[in-house]
Amino acid sequence: MPESAKGLLHVDGLTVVFDVGKSTAHCALDRVSLSIAEGEVLGLVGESGSGKTVLSHSILGLLPRNGTITSGSVTFAGSELVGRSEADFRQIRGKEIAMIFQDPQASLNPVYRVGRQIEWLLKLHRNITGPGAKAEVLRLFTAVQLRDTERCYRSYPHEMSGGMCQRVMIAMALACRPRLLIADEPTSALDVTTQAELLALLRGIKQEFAMSILFISHDIRAVSVLCSKIAVMKSGSIVEHGNASSIFENPTQPYTRLLIDSAGVLPIAETQPV
Ligand SMILES: Nc1ncnc2c1ncn2[C@@H]1O[C@H](COP(=O)(O)OP(=O)(O)OP(=O)(O)O)[C@@H](O)[C@H]1O
Ligand SMILES: [Mg+2]
Repeated sequence: MPESAKGLLHVDGLTVVFDVGKSTAHCALDRVSLSIAEGEVLGLVGESGSGKTVLSHSILGLLPRNGTITSGSVTFAGSELVGRSEADFRQIRGKEIAMIFQDPQASLNPVYRVGRQIEWLLKLHRNITGPGAKAEVLRLFTAVQLRDTERCYRSYPHEMSGGMCQRVMIAMALACRPRLLIADEPTSALDVTTQAELLALLRGIKQEFAMSILFISHDIRAVSVLCSKIAVMKSGSIVEHGNASSIFENPTQPYTRLLIDSAGVLPIAETQPV
């Protein structure tokens, strides 16, 4: 079987344009191709505005109204996602592909306790209810290393720190046992220590839950501690895609070299990506 046929996610020649009310539409993604194998962590890096979020939203059917996929395909576990209905995407999002965002507080519902919010997902996607649901929430909180799980279960989002909320978001993502987790700048709103803790957590989760992860960041240092493969994006195109170690040792693009030099990343042997 060719390598490409074994992958979980394949993005192939994906082009996205935005109607910005002018005579020429804005091309945000230009024939983007990448793939993620089962259990692989791919780091997608690139400067602000390069198209990372547009790519993740395209995969999940979350493009805003003025955005259109004009060509290309996205296959997930062998099925085409481009052109699927919103009803189909509602089945896929959360259950098959989970997503965590930069601002966890904004992604949680402020008026409900966080334990309750995860219980709804367990009911919807795994048909777990009653005492079993609470036990599962507490188990997930332990998995994401939240201390005092009972108190967290009863907390409202505003009673938790940014780092705790991001752990709750990761617990929510894990609740449905997705095959792919898309993490879009999950640590960039957090302080440096909390960032490092969350990266360590994601490393552990990748191993424990055997999940594929698309880890999006403009910070190539963060990518270097988590990812075995890297894709580098610039102005809507993937300019480099391959093994993290070879890219760090020998980037083919001056742009990648610039990202590495300006971040001052650790040598790859010291970071031991999973
Ligand atoms: N709704 C929209 N309408 C028009 N253009 C948009 C829209 N959303 C995104 N874009 C454009 O698409 C391009 C890519 O944006 P995107 O948000 O994907 O960048 P990014 O790489 O995620 O940046 P960041 O690191 O800041 O999150 C940008 O040029 C942006 O202006
Ligand atoms: Mg973004």
